[in-house]
Amino acid sequence: MNKIVFAVALALLVAGTAVQGKSGIRVNKIPSFRWDQFLGKTVLVTGGSSGIGFGTALNFARFGARVVICSRDSNPAWFNGTDAARRINADPEVQSLGGYARWVKTDVAEPDQVDALIQNILDVEGTIDFVANNAGIAGFIGVLEDPKLEELLGTEHDTLRTNIFGQAQILAAVVGLWTNTSRGGVIVNTASVDGLHGAAEAPLYCSSKHAVIGLTKSVAMELATVNPPIRVNAIAPGFTDTSLVWQQCKYLDAQQQSWEGEYITHDHPLWKTYGHFYADAQPAGKLCDPMDQAKMIMYLCSEEASYISGAVMIVDGGVNDEGVDVQ
Ligand code: NAI
Repeated sequence: MNKIVFAVALALLVAGTAVQGKSGIRVNKIPSFRWDQFLGKTVLVTGGSSGIGFGTALNFARFGARVVICSRDSNPAWFNGTDAARRINADPEVQSLGGYARWVKTDVAEPDQVDALIQNILDVEGTIDFVANNAGIAGFIGVLEDPKLEELLGTEHDTLRTNIFGQAQILAAVVGLWTNTSRGGVIVNTASVDGLHGAAEAPLYCSSKHAVIGLTKSVAMELATVNPPIRVNAIAPGFTDTSLVWQQCKYLDAQQQSWEGEYITHDHPLWKTYGHFYADAQPAGKLCDPMDQAKMIMYLCSEEASYISGAVMIVDGGVNDEGVDVQ
């Protein structure tokens, strides 16, 4: 008899009918991810020419979104925005749903360039629905007392300039646009697990990622009662298989900064020598795939995350916020 009651209850649940139990709790249909919710939507991905941003742009475009990627591209040999957009547009899954990507050269730390970027999107796509506020740099590695650090202030290698002011400017511009036009949307900032604990020899990077988490929580609170809703969340990636990590080999090898010397890829002898230190330090024995971060960004933008705001979602394969020591 009990089996029959259970079967009927399960059938009602699966059929989407709300069930009123003895306890008075209503149990609604278990939601499933609506695959078409990003179709034709406009998504801005900052730092979309490489790594996590590229994976995010590709993922959204595969769901039929119109994706604008921006990056600074001060070194075209490293992060080629035009080429990134071309690769996304050549993807058969992207083509099958009519999604696309296009690149707009922008330094997110420059207010005039951020204004021009937003205007460009309004002129072409007409609106912005979702933002992956992701552009970031590792910047200076070393101790705070290093005299080199002062030389970097205000330059493109200034971690605080890109990671804090860049993300804050994108946030301010997009939130301003949405509130002035009575529109809602979702912004996902890319923080880091280094925003949750200390990181030796990366004091400015670590501070910048703590700041991103502070920005996320503060702006989410400010916007909590806005209607239509504007949600602001952050992801906290662990070591992810991108250029940002590959370049760190130069520091392990010869105390070189990431922008100095040659560009490191998986084929480079330095990655072959030092890459496994990063992988070995992970519980799973491998780095996160950029697509793992992209999937979390997409989830946070989705209707399934409609009550999630001000959250920091850790995607680190189980490092559990303890930090890793690669040395
Ligand atoms: P990446 O180096 O592969 O990509 C960074 C992207 O940001 C590039 O497209 C670059 O052109 C762009 N960019 C840098 N400065 C910019 C600026 N001022 N204006 C516009 N674009 C700019 O690195 P990755 O790993 O994809 O980094 C993306 C984000 O993820 C960053 O915020 C980074 O701090 C964060 N992150 C990365 C982790 C990793 O292990 N790869 C771990 C935790 C966080």
